[in-house]
Amino acid sequence: TGPCDIYATGGTPCVAAHSTTRALYGAYNGSLYQVRRSSDNATLNIGLLSAGGYVNSAPQDSFCAGTYCVISVIYDQSGRGNHLTQAPPGGFSGPAAGGYDNLAPATMAPIMVGGHKAYGVFVSPGTGYRNNATNGIAKADQPEGMYAIFDGTHYNAGCCFDYGNAETNSRDNGNGTMEAIYFGNIKAWGYGTGNGPWIMADLENGLFSGVNAGYNSNDPSISHRFLTAIVKGEPNHWSIRGGNAQSGSLSTFYNGVRPNVSGYNPMKKEGAIILGIGGDNSVSAAGTFYEGVMTSGYPSDATENSVQANITAAGYATAARVGPANGAVVSLRATTACCTTRYISHSGATTLTSVVTSSSSATDKANATWIVRAGLANSACVSFESRNTAGSYLRHQNYQLYTHANDGSLLFANDATFCPTAGVNGQGISLQSYNFSNRDIRHYNNSVYIASYGGSNTFDATGLWGDDSSWVVASPWTP
Ligand code: AHR
Repeated sequence: TGPCDIYATGGTPCVAAHSTTRALYGAYNGSLYQVRRSSDNATLNIGLLSAGGYVNSAPQDSFCAGTYCVISVIYDQSGRGNHLTQAPPGGFSGPAAGGYDNLAPATMAPIMVGGHKAYGVFVSPGTGYRNNATNGIAKADQPEGMYAIFDGTHYNAGCCFDYGNAETNSRDNGNGTMEAIYFGNIKAWGYGTGNGPWIMADLENGLFSGVNAGYNSNDPSISHRFLTAIVKGEPNHWSIRGGNAQSGSLSTFYNGVRPNVSGYNPMKKEGAIILGIGGDNSVSAAGTFYEGVMTSGYPSDATENSVQANITAAGYATAARVGPANGAVVSLRATTACCTTRYISHSGATTLTSVVTSSSSATDKANATWIVRAGLANSACVSFESRNTAGSYLRHQNYQLYTHANDGSLLFANDATFCPTAGVNGQGISLQSYNFSNRDIRHYNNSVYIASYGGSNTFDATGLWGDDSSWVVASPWTP
């Protein structure tokens, strides 16, 4: 039995069902998502180990080995064809060609589910998915329910990490033209207790934590590693609920009338579906999505409680991180044929690749040595502290790598956090930028950048990109 079987039994069937980790119906045996690789633009559909079961991610690992993959489609399991694809420009444009948003790297959010390896959808600012031509999604004041499972430790204060109902023209069409789950700590509109993050409802021109436009004391900060987040709405009535997707039950954070701000009663829902962005294609948000559904009809709390039991039984768990352990002292060697004696090194702030040999000076050796630290912005990823300049870390700025003292800012933490994946050319590791997740650490003319494959900078050149962005974790030049 999957969550959508439970919703159907409750009389509020799923009309969209998205997951990169498992079937959401007991009988589903189709594809979960599609990956596309940069080497030849070929695509592969990723399916299940068995009907109604968990994702079979092994074919993705072989297909993407030695190249770079993105998640290009998240399929709708409901049979209504409400698939999610690369979001188009709207009120705001994305950073990809034609103003589209970026697609998520396919391997940046590795987890285990039911004992099987799976990958979530990692959204950094600029990333977004959408479907503006849906079938069966609530419109106007029609009732609907939604849940999603997010990574409660991956969020930001940009607008707007959403999953749910939005405008069909990707523009801000006024109050009440959206109804989506929001997760993050932006305080521009509503907020709850503590410093966030909060689950809120994005109803357009407002994230609502309750009946008031700003503060509502019943909406708590909530950051479970795996978070169940719920928003549902019907005529002059809506709710926010949430809980830990690994155990326990749901709590209700709001259950009442529409906001005491004009324009939200009745609602004017349009029925598009968004993931990772705001209704007008605002692209400043971050988060990670594992699964979510939208229903026809307002689900009962009892139905959702059964769905939560199904979710906790699914066995979401963290996966071991790729790459060297925290505390390891390492040198990072280039793998491109030109440069296999070159290592990422610094001289003051300047960061480049330098040839280092056993006869190099002690300073040159120490300059090419790094201590692996838990990621300053997220401990699931890493930061690299200089071996000889304590408190200084590799960080990007204007897409170039520098070694700078940690100033304690959120920007620094984000810029200094990299998520290791298997090396893009099959050797060593690649290091994806945490806040520009379609970019990874790449050398070019002996300087070091965060590069995006085929992007608009000279250092984004496709030639040798895989080699230039793969690094062997070598014994440290200065142990
Ligand atoms: O409601 C908050 C945001 O405001 C919406 O997501 C976006 O469409 C608008 O900018």
